[in-house]
Amino acid sequence: MIQFLLNQRLVSESDIDPNMTVLNYLRQNQRRCGTKEGCASGDCGACTVTLGHVEQGRMRYQTVNSCLTFVSHLQGKQLISVEDLRQPSGLHGVQQAMVDCHASQCGFCTPGFVMSIFTLQKNGGGDTQQIEQALAGNLCRCTGYRPIVAAARHACDTAERDTFEQQEAATVAQLLTLHSPEMQEIHWQDRRCLLPKTVKQLSDALLAHPQAKLLAGGTDLALQVTQRGEALPLLIALDQIDELKQCASFDDERVLGAGVSLSQCWQWLGDEIPALTQILARFASQQIRNLGTLGGNIGNASPIGDMPPMLLALDASLILQQGDSQRRLPLADFFLSYRKTALREGEFIRAVAIPHATPAQHFRAWKVSKRLEDDISAVFAAFTLTTDEAGRVDCVRIAFGGMAEIPRRAYHCEQQLLGQPLNGTTLANACRALEQDFQPLSDFRASAAYRLQLAKNLLRRYHATLSGELSFTEVSDYV
Ligand code: FES
Ligand code: FES
Repeated sequence: MIQFLLNQRLVSESDIDPNMTVLNYLRQNQRRCGTKEGCASGDCGACTVTLGHVEQGRMRYQTVNSCLTFVSHLQGKQLISVEDLRQPSGLHGVQQAMVDCHASQCGFCTPGFVMSIFTLQKNGGGDTQQIEQALAGNLCRCTGYRPIVAAARHACDTAERDTFEQQEAATVAQLLTLHSPEMQEIHWQDRRCLLPKTVKQLSDALLAHPQAKLLAGGTDLALQVTQRGEALPLLIALDQIDELKQCASFDDERVLGAGVSLSQCWQWLGDEIPALTQILARFASQQIRNLGTLGGNIGNASPIGDMPPMLLALDASLILQQGDSQRRLPLADFFLSYRKTALREGEFIRAVAIPHATPAQHFRAWKVSKRLEDDISAVFAAFTLTTDEAGRVDCVRIAFGGMAEIPRRAYHCEQQLLGQPLNGTTLANACRALEQDFQPLSDFRASAAYRLQLAKNLLRRYHATLSGELSFTEVSDYV
């Protein structure tokens, strides 16, 4: 059984399709049709809803794409949809700001924008950068963004005490009663979803059901249901396992649990690796980053995932667990072929270990996509390099996404750099070696020739940042 708050009302569901999205649950089961379906693939934001959870005794709110969120994800949370914003006096301040700023025309996108702004307001945000980040996952095809951004700024500047604030203590108390150490389960016909609470329950469940699909954020897995109409008969949801969301810093490395969301990665790694933070801002949308997890982005082994090339360049390792035993595997050995990994039967990603960055290490990464935000990479490149006292390269790791069937190191290119001074001849040789490393495909995002040229140009760009021809800031806007 799962239990959650639908605004303030406690809801319990056990006999419910685990393949049902929150969007369909709201529209079909709850007859709440304010939340819209635009794309059903996490691209448009029309389906945005707010999920609340308790963090250090206070409510913390996040936007998610309800079209990609399975109902099991609601366990122990507060679900707020646009219908809940009504206040005793009438419209919520965010809705009134949309009216006052003329920020809606056909209105299809409006509930999604309202929920994104509402969540930003609830979390105390409101500067230009926060507004742009909050709205980057919402598309509007007729109003234009200027009045919507103005509405967001107005709503955040004039936030007033609303019913959510008045009821916060009661909401926290109610949510805390929903936590149970027992593994929960929902089922419908021949479909099941198990919700383990501990790593031990997870490893036992996966050994008993090695054919089960692990459901982390689900932002990729849900597409099998929403886009391809497939059924996922047995799911094991990871969201309830707090152990998978823990992070720790040791003398030589940081260890992040596989269930850490991409938004949390931003907080955990941003100080130490600013270049990574800059890239995370371009990683899908805030709604996706709130749902998507570090382990999920690695485990689905997509050739165009954005974290793997960066983690390869940072020399990350995976901590894998099967039953009670754990092993470490360099990430470079994890991806075998298209969507195939070195995971054994009943094994899962427990955590990711990333060596601490050193001052001598020059880490940079660039994502090239057609749109700045909320888009998939045509090519993703990540570079790390150190030089010795004589200026020769003594350590280098270069990794690309979008250039092969897996995210992969450019070993031939690295060999051309190792032991060499960073001059024009070395750069030319390293660029040529990329042709040995990669024979990319042509698809609707980019042709093979364009991808190869991009890879060479990004290497040249990296070289230019190292030699001081370009500052980090100058290249930060690169798309
Ligand atoms: Fe478009 Fe969900 S319907 S993001
Ligand atoms: Fe029509 Fe935004 S108001 S899509």
